[in-house]
Amino acid sequence: MRPIRRRGWEITGERLTPERVVLGRRRLLAGLAGALAAAPPSAFAQGRDPMAWWEAQLAADPTRGLYPAPRSSAYPLDRPLTEPRHAIAYNNFYEFGAQKDIWRTAQRLETRPWTVTIDGLVPSPRTVDIDDLIRRFPLEERTYRFRCVEGWAMAVPWVGFPLADLIRWVEPLGSARYVVFESFQNPRIAPGFRQTWYPWPYLEGFTLAEAMNELSLIVVGIYGRPLPPQLGAPIRVITPWKYGFKQPKSVVRITFTDRRPVGFWERLQPHEYGFWANVNPAVPHPRWSQATERMLGTDERRPTLIWNGYGEWVAGLYEGLRHERLFA
Ligand code: MTE
Repeated sequence: MRPIRRRGWEITGERLTPERVVLGRRRLLAGLAGALAAAPPSAFAQGRDPMAWWEAQLAADPTRGLYPAPRSSAYPLDRPLTEPRHAIAYNNFYEFGAQKDIWRTAQRLETRPWTVTIDGLVPSPRTVDIDDLIRRFPLEERTYRFRCVEGWAMAVPWVGFPLADLIRWVEPLGSARYVVFESFQNPRIAPGFRQTWYPWPYLEGFTLAEAMNELSLIVVGIYGRPLPPQLGAPIRVITPWKYGFKQPKSVVRITFTDRRPVGFWERLQPHEYGFWANVNPAVPHPRWSQATERMLGTDERRPTLIWNGYGEWVAGLYEGLRHERLFA
């Protein structure tokens, strides 16, 4: 989802290399060479292997005892699960860079301590510790299809709890019409924030009816363990009938409002990305077709399914909204 509006004279932060960084890097490389020579082979392997990184993080995760979560059989898949090594090493997480291989940079994300603020049109705004939040609701595993607007897809077992459970817990006021999720913003650890043409922080929102739909999930884990940072640890949102850009990662704020929010990509390129962003093979992106999708880690192309195959659960949400741009 490359932005197309960057002006020619703008140089990305990555291309600017101040002198002190060059000098510092030389010192660092000299030190690193020594450290690598002394390091055990497993540490070296971990450096290049996202699965090994994930494995190493597990021991320190305070929620690891909650896994495995019971698997729900309500949402059967029509395709094999994507291998974890592909799902955890091919990501969109622009806070850490615009490439797909940001998994290593994303390890800088500090996922504890972590709080989530719930505010806006609620009777009692609150800030909750992530571990209290995760323990508040029973976790379950659901296998869902996932479709990125760029044309790649995967099928993964998410672990989480229904967003509807959280909404019932906070009891938003009757005037609330939308719920907005805001991602973390810490320029100290994530280089993407230096790219000031992006409308940080990343945010996305849904109507309350969409958020209350049984498919909408607050996700805290995948493949039977807590999320790795590159997938949006410690908490993200999944609405599987929508394109992937509607699924914000590493959420720190949930706001109930009466105004339709403008999401990160819609703010950047409103002619390409809209509020609803429901998957539809018949509505092309302005720059490419959406008729088929490539399954991550394979050469297989599959036909794209309308509503990503979840029409049975969600088509009714959109009756009477045909005048809206539902599928972009
Ligand atoms: N959330 C944040 N905070 N930042 C992002 O750049 N990218 C979105 C979405 N959520 C993004 C984000 C896009 S474009 C996609 S396709 C999915 O995350 C990718 O999720 P995955 O990397 O877990 O597959």
